[in-house]
Amino acid sequence: IKRNSKFKELSADDVQYFKDLLGNESAVVDGVTKDASAELEGFNSDWMRKYRGQARLVLKPSSTEQVSKILAYCNKKLLAVNPQGGNTGLVGGSVPVYDEIVLNLSRMNKIRSFDDVSGILVADAGVILQQADEHAAKHGYIFPLDLGAKGSCQIGGNVATNAGGLRLLRYGSLHGNVLGLEAVLPDGTIVDDLSTLRKNNTGYDLKQLFIGGEGTLGIITAVSIICPQRSPAVNVAYFGLESYENVLQAFKESKKHLSEILSAFELMDVGSQHLYRNATGAKLPLEGEYPFYCLIETSGSNSDHDSEKLNAFLEHVMSEEIVADGVVAQDETQLQSLWACREGISEASQHWGGVYKYDLSIPLPELYDLVAECRERFKSNGLMGETDDHPVKDVVGYGHMGDSNLHLNVAVRRYDKAVEKALEPWVYEWVQKRQGSISAEHGLGLAKKEYVGYSRSETMLRLMKQIKDVYDPNGIMNPYKYI
Ligand code: FAD
Ligand code: MLT
Ligand code: ZN
Repeated sequence: IKRNSKFKELSADDVQYFKDLLGNESAVVDGVTKDASAELEGFNSDWMRKYRGQARLVLKPSSTEQVSKILAYCNKKLLAVNPQGGNTGLVGGSVPVYDEIVLNLSRMNKIRSFDDVSGILVADAGVILQQADEHAAKHGYIFPLDLGAKGSCQIGGNVATNAGGLRLLRYGSLHGNVLGLEAVLPDGTIVDDLSTLRKNNTGYDLKQLFIGGEGTLGIITAVSIICPQRSPAVNVAYFGLESYENVLQAFKESKKHLSEILSAFELMDVGSQHLYRNATGAKLPLEGEYPFYCLIETSGSNSDHDSEKLNAFLEHVMSEEIVADGVVAQDETQLQSLWACREGISEASQHWGGVYKYDLSIPLPELYDLVAECRERFKSNGLMGETDDHPVKDVVGYGHMGDSNLHLNVAVRRYDKAVEKALEPWVYEWVQKRQGSISAEHGLGLAKKEYVGYSRSETMLRLMKQIKDVYDPNGIMNPYKYI
């Protein structure tokens, strides 16, 4: 892709306009009138250091009015804009491609209100996920989303990507939990739909377009979200299993035995656990080695009741030999270290140099076949091996098993066109044949721009483009990405 020449190049006058508007030195990173390359680096490169933009200006507004004025100006001048939250996205959507202005939400970080009775939190888009959860915790509630990047991602970014994460199995997706939004359209219009109503069937539910819209329609400036009651009794178990067939059975049995207290069911294959161990030096929870591991979490209101259920479940899966070995966390520290074996894979996945990540929805019975087939593919094409002349070190699979969401990761020593060619479009074709999704929860960004057609029909793509044209006729919002 080439830079779109319809977009204006930034001038010193533009920069001055923004400086006057934001009126705060630290709110503008100006690489237009001076050299600010070191400071711009962090805004231009993504979490994986795989995508790199060339932004020369970063704006950090502190109010919705400022966002509105920035966008109205950009729209009039045809300046392209890249919304950015915590910059933890995994598909290259959060960094510019060329010289788009980065509009970073980090200074919009206030909790606006929390209703103790309903559990409804209203907060600025730039609030860090972990801080939102800690705020909810003070009132006895829990944020309905949790993920490994919680310490840096923002709730606006979470909503913009419709992030799924570790609690979706229990609390459902943001499409259900987000009750309202405040957003700014490219022409500066403020859309105040910050509803706190649980039910509201008055015509099209337009906020849904922003949820998972990946910053292509406007900027989310605030979110209203319903938080469920925080469970006082939480248990975590980590199991080793001999086959994927056993994992499927364990999932089925966990639903049957644990039913309403089951709050997570996560899958990790042995390769993913080795990767985690290699990267962190941590000791794995079980002595023996098994091809598959899973992590089960229960959350309930009565620890005696939950323990009784959990014990009955454990007895059943062990005696039926569905599970080969397992451990249940005895205290908070152990609980965290079991969770780390799952949450830490993301960070560990680049340990050998780099990683090709695929985030897929696949019907459960076939979910792991892709990992096995992919591994075979790299063995037979000679690209994978123990010595450094092979680009591929390992092919691993893990993910949100309870949501039929597989993360296929190809851990590489270096990025290599031959590896990419062996993977794409092969992975996407494989998923399409099973009516799966090429993006379960991470979004499309730049990474999957070319491949949307594997999961969406011509008709749906046309409708998406028409919607984009209505909201953003000049196409200034997050250009070059999937739409
Ligand atoms: P960014 O990365 O800054 O942006 C993501 C996208 O949203 C970009 O397209 C950006 O333009 C847009 N955007 C950001 N803020 C706004 C806004 N206010 N208005 C409009 N558009 C905006 N994802 C999951 O679904 N489940 C997981 O379990 C999960 N685990 C992760 C673990 C790790 C360690 C990491 C690094 C990432 C993980 N992710 C996961 C990826 C996930 O998409 C992000 O972590 C998170 O949702 C993005 O939030 P962010 O604030 O960092 O957004
Ligand atoms: C996860 O579930 O760990 C994430 O979605 C992030 C990843 O796949 O790296
Ligand atoms: Zn995930």
